[in-house]
Parts: sequence; structure tokens; C-alpha cells
Amino acid sequence: MTTLATPTYQNLLVERRGAVTLLAIHRPDVLNALNRATLAEIETCARAFAADPEQGALIVTGSGDKSFISGADINELAVLDPRGAEDISRFGQRVLDALARAGKPVIAAINGYAFGGGCELALACHIRLAAENAVLGLPEVSLGIIPGYGGTQRLPRLVGAGHALEIILSGRRVKADEAERLGLVNRVVPRDQLIAEAEKLALAILRNGPLAVAAVLEAVDRGTAMPLDDGLRLESGLFGILAASEDMHEGLKAFLEKRPARFQRR
Ligand code: COA
Repeated sequence: MTTLATPTYQNLLVERRGAVTLLAIHRPDVLNALNRATLAEIETCARAFAADPEQGALIVTGSGDKSFISGADINELAVLDPRGAEDISRFGQRVLDALARAGKPVIAAINGYAFGGGCELALACHIRLAAENAVLGLPEVSLGIIPGYGGTQRLPRLVGAGHALEIILSGRRVKADEAERLGLVNRVVPRDQLIAEAEKLALAILRNGPLAVAAVLEAVDRGTAMPLDDGLRLESGLFGILAASEDMHEGLKAFLEKRPARFQRR
């Protein structure tokens, strides 16, 4: 991956490739551990991505070839008091929510260690691709703490309570192939093709109606936190709203006319 440092960020490398934005966490001395300053930068980047109509999809990865994100920065965790611990947990959750609720696809390209907060960041992304050398885990209990950036909530929703409890309670490492079997990652790809595969997936999504893509993200994000009947009503409501869009009529008409659709995001 070629990266360009954006001067506004100390700990992130951000590169625009057309409508796809690549964000690499860059703290090489600590294998890309997330300190508070880096979390704040991720939030800024996520909000800028969500607000910019030119940016259609975000790929999050780690700089270097060894680590996605090694976790929360243990140097900062070591000095927390109860108030500070709850605060940083809420802050981390808010930052990861900014990715989860960006309204556009966010893909984690997991290129090595994804522990603790790194695994939780990947869980907040909509889709996870893993390189063959990826290793994931939530080792917090081995440090006497618990996952605090959404891990106890998002992991069971993704892989089921049984697998989640085993992974969180043991703190064990889950290699890429097992992560794929469990559904913890969508797919394992060769190391040197990770970013290209993520980009290919992002571009495939971007060929679809952007309002429809946003509606799917909302239906799945909000729907999984609802009873089924409420989720089904949410789905119908969004289906109805889309019928008011020019894009829906364009998409259906283009199919009937056997031509590619020209979506306008309206
Ligand atoms: N926070 C702060 N520093 C970290 C870190 C973290 N989460 N993870 C790694 N580092 C630092 C190490 O302390 C080391 O610093 P040093 O060079 O000053 O000694 C440097 O990054 C390189 O790590 P090292 O342990 O030497 O690399 P490794 O390849 O042998 O092992 C890991 C890599 C990721 C397996 C190991 O660093 C690790 O277990 N890290 C903690 C993972 C964790 O528990 N995360 C959850 C936190 S809640």
C-alpha cells in the first residue's frame, strides 16, 4: 500500500483513491496501539468521511505489515482510575460508532495483529477482510479488565454468544482461518492482495445505488438491535422512502432498458 501522510493527522495515514479512502493507523513503535489522541483522530477522519459526498467507502488498515492494531495503548490503561476508565470506554465506543454509523461502507483490512481495541474496531466495521497472517483476539481478561470499546456487545452479535464467550473468557488468539470459519471475518485473502481485494469490494458496492446502500446499512445496524417485528417495520419504512427517490426509478428503468444505471444520490 502506498500511503501519503495527511499533515492534519499525527497517527493516521490517509490516502484518497477516487471515491475510496484508505485510512491506516500509524504508530509503528507500539504496533499501532490506540491511544486517546489516535482515537480522536479516527473520530475526526470518520466524521469527515461521512460528511464528504465525494468519499463513498472507507478502508481501515494498519500501517506496516505486522499489525492491524495491537489494542488500546496499555501505557494509558495502566494509569486509569474508575472515572477515567469509564470515560475512555465511552469515548472509544463513540469513536467506533462513528465508523459503524458513517452511513457508507467501512471495510476493515486486517493485516496482522488485531487485539483488544483493534479487534473491536474491526468489529465496528461493516465488513472484515483478513490477510493470512491476521490474528484476532480480545485478551483483556488476561490484563484484569474487560473489552471496553464494544467487544462484549458486537462479538456475540456477530458470532453468537457461545463462541464470543469462549473467545473473550479465554482471551485466546484466533488465527485468520478460524476467524473465517467462525464468521468473525468475512474472508481471508493473500497478504499482498489485502488492500486490492478491499478496494475491489468497495468499488463493487459503490456501483450500486448509494441511497439503497445507506438504507441497508441503517436497516441492519438498527434492525439487529430490535425485535424482529420492529425490524421488519423498519425495513418496510426504508423501502417506502427509497420509492420516493429518483435513483430507485433509474435503477429499475436501467434494468428494463438493459443499460447500466446512472445513480445521482437523490
Ligand atoms: N499498548 C502499548 N504498547 C504496545 C501494545 C499495546 N497494546 N502492544 C504492543 N506494544 C508495544 C510493546 O510494548 C513493544 O514496545 P517496546 O518495543 O518499547 O518494548 C512494541 O509495541 C512491540 O511489541 P512486542 O511485544 O515486542 O512485539 P511482538 O511481535 O513480540 O508481540 C503482540 C506483538 C501484539 C503479540 C504483543 O505486543 C502484545 O501482546 N501486545 C498487547 C496486546 C493486548 O493485550 N492488547 C489488548 C490491550 S487492551
